[in-house]
Amino acid sequence: MKIKLGVIFGGCSVEHEVSIISAVQAMQSMDTEKYDIIPIYIDKDRNWYTGKMLMDIEVYKDFEDLKKYAKKVAMYKKDGKYYLQSLGLFKRLVEELDIVFPIVHGANVEDGTLAGYLDTIGIPYVGPNVLGAALGQDKVVMKQVFDACNIPIVDYVWFFDADYLNDPANYQKQIKKMGYPVIVKPATLGSSVGITVVKEEARLDEAIMEAITYDKKIVVEKMVPNLVEVNCSVVGNYEHQDASVLEEVMSSDEFLTYKDKYLGNGKKTGKSKGMASTSRIVPARLTDKMTKEVQDVAKKTFKALNLSGICRIDFLIDKKENKVYVNEPNTIPGSLSFYLWEPTGKKYSDLLDEAITRAIKDYKAKNKKVFSFDTNILSNFNGTKGAKGLKGIKGGKLK
Ligand SMILES: Nc1ncnc2c1ncn2[C@@H]1O[C@H](COP(=O)(O)OP(=O)(O)O)[C@@H](O)[C@H]1O
Ligand SMILES: [Mg+2]
Repeated sequence: MKIKLGVIFGGCSVEHEVSIISAVQAMQSMDTEKYDIIPIYIDKDRNWYTGKMLMDIEVYKDFEDLKKYAKKVAMYKKDGKYYLQSLGLFKRLVEELDIVFPIVHGANVEDGTLAGYLDTIGIPYVGPNVLGAALGQDKVVMKQVFDACNIPIVDYVWFFDADYLNDPANYQKQIKKMGYPVIVKPATLGSSVGITVVKEEARLDEAIMEAITYDKKIVVEKMVPNLVEVNCSVVGNYEHQDASVLEEVMSSDEFLTYKDKYLGNGKKTGKSKGMASTSRIVPARLTDKMTKEVQDVAKKTFKALNLSGICRIDFLIDKKENKVYVNEPNTIPGSLSFYLWEPTGKKYSDLLDEAITRAIKDYKAKNKKVFSFDTNILSNFNGTKGAKGLKGIKGGKLK
């Protein structure tokens, strides 16, 4: 029997369209002998749809038209099985699901929110759990974890908007001490939105105010000089990690912008595969020693955040000093980084298969752990007299 695999994509994120491209690519590469593929599309208003036509990229050219043909559904559990049920007057079970594969990017989905929803329902899924996904989205907390795990990162200063607005001079002083040039970033965004490079103190406040329009948490990092940016994909779980070949990414500006990442910059060097039109060179032009160092740090990073599935760790390298810094993980990367695995001899269908198989194994292992007790502690709880909500409980003691 085939495995009923729901592929979830879209969502209320600036990377909505990128997610559609990633998911359609993946669905077209999945082994249909082994998997019965069920597309699950979340629109920008957070409605869920299913229908085989959602596997065709053409249907996304007109989102309004799509909604006329696809079925609006909700996911739920019944008698130990997972289903998509149609909404509206006559509710019908549209599809049964064994496991789901979220291929989503950005806020409101990739940041652990979707993982949390799936965990609440209880359905097995491929990819990072709530904590790993959430850490991957917060540029401050991830740095605190990296620091604790001796993973190399650039110097930084961070603050909440309210604290900066109360005492800007304090933070400006700390940043000056760190040294210019710096790069100001909203802490939880992505896609280079709200990011500014600042070369002199006089421009700092302006850049911070810009970042504050996007996020309440801000991080200011020291710019890495003599910059070479490389990315490494990692597949695995907490027990085992494999690292891909490295890609070297070239930006058209001082830093990789949204335009570089998704709209292309016209000057392609090397192979450009996957959705991003960024100029990329695979493998990156690094020595074997440095390549190995990056791959080792990538695996360590993956493990430190307890990630799983297919991820991509992005690095900043000071080429002159030969210093490697982790920039950020992409817990569900664009195109699932398949183009970094092909040169290792791993076909995209095999990469997907590996991630799905591991997720099923991990789900089984997780379910062997104790989650809850059969005894109902409330059965010994006598008396709720005078109870007003939970606060006013009187007379009853938890035994
Ligand atoms: N500390 C840094 N030094 C030099 N360049 C940087 C630094 N941090 C980020 N960049 C540049 O800015 C780009 C976007 O920053 P990044 O932290 O990856 O944000 P996003 O989450 O939006 O992708 C990077 O791809 C890189 O080109
Ligand atoms: Mg980035």
